[in-house]
Amino acid sequence: MNKFIVTGGNTLRGEITVQGAKNSVLPILVATLLVNGESVIHNCPCLSDVDATIKILEYLGCVVTREGHTIIVDSSSVNKCDVPDNLMREMRSSIVFLGGIIGRMGKAVLSTPGGCEIGLRPIDLHLSSMEQFGAKITTENGFIVCSAEEKGLQGTRIILSFPSVGATENIILSAVLAKGTTIISNAAREPEISDLADFLNRCGAKIHGAGDSTITIDGVKELKPCEHTIIPDRIVVATYMIATVMTGGKICIKDIIPSHIGPIIQPLRDAGCLISINGRNVTASASNHLKRIRMIRTMPHPGFPTDVQAQMMALTTIAEGTSVFVENIFESRYKHVGELLRFGAKISVEGRMAVVEGVKALNGAKVKATDLRGGSAMILSGLCANGITEITEIHHIDRGYEKPEKVLNELGADIKRVNTDE
Ligand code: UD1
Repeated sequence: MNKFIVTGGNTLRGEITVQGAKNSVLPILVATLLVNGESVIHNCPCLSDVDATIKILEYLGCVVTREGHTIIVDSSSVNKCDVPDNLMREMRSSIVFLGGIIGRMGKAVLSTPGGCEIGLRPIDLHLSSMEQFGAKITTENGFIVCSAEEKGLQGTRIILSFPSVGATENIILSAVLAKGTTIISNAAREPEISDLADFLNRCGAKIHGAGDSTITIDGVKELKPCEHTIIPDRIVVATYMIATVMTGGKICIKDIIPSHIGPIIQPLRDAGCLISINGRNVTASASNHLKRIRMIRTMPHPGFPTDVQAQMMALTTIAEGTSVFVENIFESRYKHVGELLRFGAKISVEGRMAVVEGVKALNGAKVKATDLRGGSAMILSGLCANGITEITEIHHIDRGYEKPEKVLNELGADIKRVNTDE
């Protein structure tokens, strides 16, 4: 087991580039199942969720090679259609294997997925979409059996009651090789959906409208291998911008896609941060003091991302005045609040709403990472707190941030990773 020891008080300054997007690389690795041959995916971050995805691909029969940040998946000899429970439980996003496997094999056998404990996270939209493609769904010994072996998947019209990211990805994965045309209404519009569609289209798929609410997919007979580069991780960009402004510093993050961070720029400006975009680079610095953000409501993209709610809350704990958060995506995504209180933050939660009253300073504390983004908020608070902060359960953070201590130490932070087993 590892923990982080953060010595607070250093100002972060400097220039960085960020890792590829976790939420892109996972569905794109799954999509390689649909390709006949060797897919080459560049800019893959080194994360435990990526390791878990590779384990499942290998179990299914793929040959996976890793060269630094490039992953090569040869899916010519896929011969299984099930995912064992222990691999399924390693991460929530394993549910996108549903579309990848059924698209390739006509049948998928999965248990319900694991992942961050941030609410119920049901999969009803995923399953009902598969039924609309003509698949039959049954359960056997706790496994979901989804089969379209008789007639194959048939293109269909699917109206999502909520623009679920994972369900949209599963529908795309099922539709690219299905017979006929599929139309998704109220599709998720996250940039990672467009990245998945760009990869598949490069392989010969016919997906139109990714990034909009209506996506049309004309089924094709086969997909040919291609090379693809994963987009920069917008959530990681946001996290390091917030870390820097909380310490009163200045950061330039190079080679980002500015439109992807659009939803977080205005709230940061409202908090008194100076943000400028120059081509593909963003510079963020804090003004004299941080101000409250009147209201942050998490929404599907292009709204404020739920994956940045915890980090923004860490910022508002030291901003002057009272800030209000409304979490609209996940029903219990405030687990980090109890840990923020240990730093001396003042936060009260009622249902989906959290009210943060800014304090003058935080004090170092012993805290735990409750989930991936909540864990990153602990690092941010530790960086600007007085004294030492100890963060345990950092395996949650390693699911989504590649060597965060290295990146932040290069900017001037003092974070040590300590192995507690030694
Ligand atoms: C993805 C992201 C995650 C992000 C989330 C919302 C990946 C790997 N993960 O997760 O980082 O926080 O989008 O932007 O890309 N829902 C249902 N039924 C379903 C599916 C979803 O009710 O069948 C609900 C969920 O419980 C949740 C909401 O819809 O309340 C959003 O979930 P969804 O957009 O599906 O998120 P994920 O794909 O799990």
